[in-house]
Amino acid sequence: MSSIADDAALPATALPTPRLAALAHIPGHDGPPIIGDTFKFLADPLGSVQAMARRYGLIHRTRVFGVRSVSLLGPDGIGLVLFDQSKLFSSQEGWEPFLGRLFPRGLMLLDFDEHRLHRRALSVAFKSGPLKSYLAALDAGIKARLAQWREGPADFLFYPAIKQLTLDLAATSFLGEGIGPEMDAIKRAFIDMVAAATGIVRAPLPGTAMRRGVAGRRRIIDYFSRRVPLRRERGGEDIFSQLCRATHDDGSLMTVQDIADHMSFLMMAAHDTLTSSLSAFVYFLAAHPDWQQRLREEALGLGLAAGEPLPFERLDELRLTDMAFREAMRLIPPVISLPRRAVREFEFGGYRIPAGTRVNTSVIFAHHMAELWPEPQRFDPLRFTEESARGRHKFAYAPFGGGAHMCLGLHFAYMQAKCFAYNLLTTTGVSIEAGYRPRWQMTPIPRPRDGLRVRLGPRP
Ligand code: HEM
Repeated sequence: MSSIADDAALPATALPTPRLAALAHIPGHDGPPIIGDTFKFLADPLGSVQAMARRYGLIHRTRVFGVRSVSLLGPDGIGLVLFDQSKLFSSQEGWEPFLGRLFPRGLMLLDFDEHRLHRRALSVAFKSGPLKSYLAALDAGIKARLAQWREGPADFLFYPAIKQLTLDLAATSFLGEGIGPEMDAIKRAFIDMVAAATGIVRAPLPGTAMRRGVAGRRRIIDYFSRRVPLRRERGGEDIFSQLCRATHDDGSLMTVQDIADHMSFLMMAAHDTLTSSLSAFVYFLAAHPDWQQRLREEALGLGLAAGEPLPFERLDELRLTDMAFREAMRLIPPVISLPRRAVREFEFGGYRIPAGTRVNTSVIFAHHMAELWPEPQRFDPLRFTEESARGRHKFAYAPFGGGAHMCLGLHFAYMQAKCFAYNLLTTTGVSIEAGYRPRWQMTPIPRPRDGLRVRLGPRP
């Protein structure tokens, strides 16, 4: 593993960009001039990484989006990059090119001691007490929306519908009641920011998604900033109100700017990831009616009356649902790779890698390694029984990352997925046309290109 002594991390922004000569000893290639392997990667991120690994091995040099980086693949690569005991990798520097303009100082864009301080303050909003109150709002919102869906046409585009629902649910669990007439403008601004974060043009030129995203950011930051004082007085269980009252270790409140930055990042971190994972989940349940029925029986087995809220205390009983959701995220992880930047020189797998090198580790690659996951393309939730998981490498599965930056919303995500599956399956049957296999656009966050055509019907 790393040969680095545990000295203090350098300020990440002072990092040099290593020249090609400093990386030439690492197998790999730059690809065609300027574009590098960008198009190959965009067309098929998993296939292109697998091809590079076959040709050059699990540690190799690549150039995508004009940026040269070193891929550290497989569970050992994931372990090194994420469980970064010696503070070797900057997450801020890794994510900056993608998220820096729109979500500066979001939690994932902070490093080391500062990150730890902020993460601790934010954690209050993700403990089981607050989660329980979000579940009540999620459950009511999902029940109402499913009733609307059932009254609409049976043939249904799932992806745009779940995207809208996730956004509407976030409005209550993240912002609480009484958001006021600005809500639609805020949702619009937020959608513009997310679209810009995932757009191709990175400069805010007139007419671009980035320009609209930057304007959206101004509006969102202004919205949150104006409301902090009121939220501090008024109380409330939603995430925004919790952050307004959250304190650092010394008892000081977070600054208004920090709260606004964290809120905006949190909404982004939750939105497309939940939309993507729930789309994959529903697709696999529709494609595997036997599994859909097993999960339905598990849900009905809770013995709740029709329309009764799903109690927080009973979520753990939905074990098959949990395993099926995990398996959907194994096959189609919402965050396919994780970028970092080395703040010091290090050594890994026999290669010396200089300070300033951009590194990345691929979640989707690890999730499809046949030596870890036999028949990796097969949907099989039983891979996640305790017994099957026992002998597996502990970094073989990382849809939520791991280590210091491990997803803070992980329990929120499982809760929302279980709540959605419970309410869907106890009321509705979901199917797809025989042989239908949606094509997924895998970057930046997987989504079915055609919107995911499903059919909703009565519960079988
Ligand atoms: C299925 C849904 C989700 C997936 C797959 C997912 C995945 C991830 C991953 C992989 C990371 C780590 C990135 C890295 O190490 O570079 C992360 C970080 C984060 N996620 Fe999630 N996420 C999901 C939902 C959510 C939700 C619902 C929230 C909030 C309610 C959330 C909040 C965050 C935050 C705040 C971080 C940054 C943590 C830190 O830097 O300390 N995520 N997420």
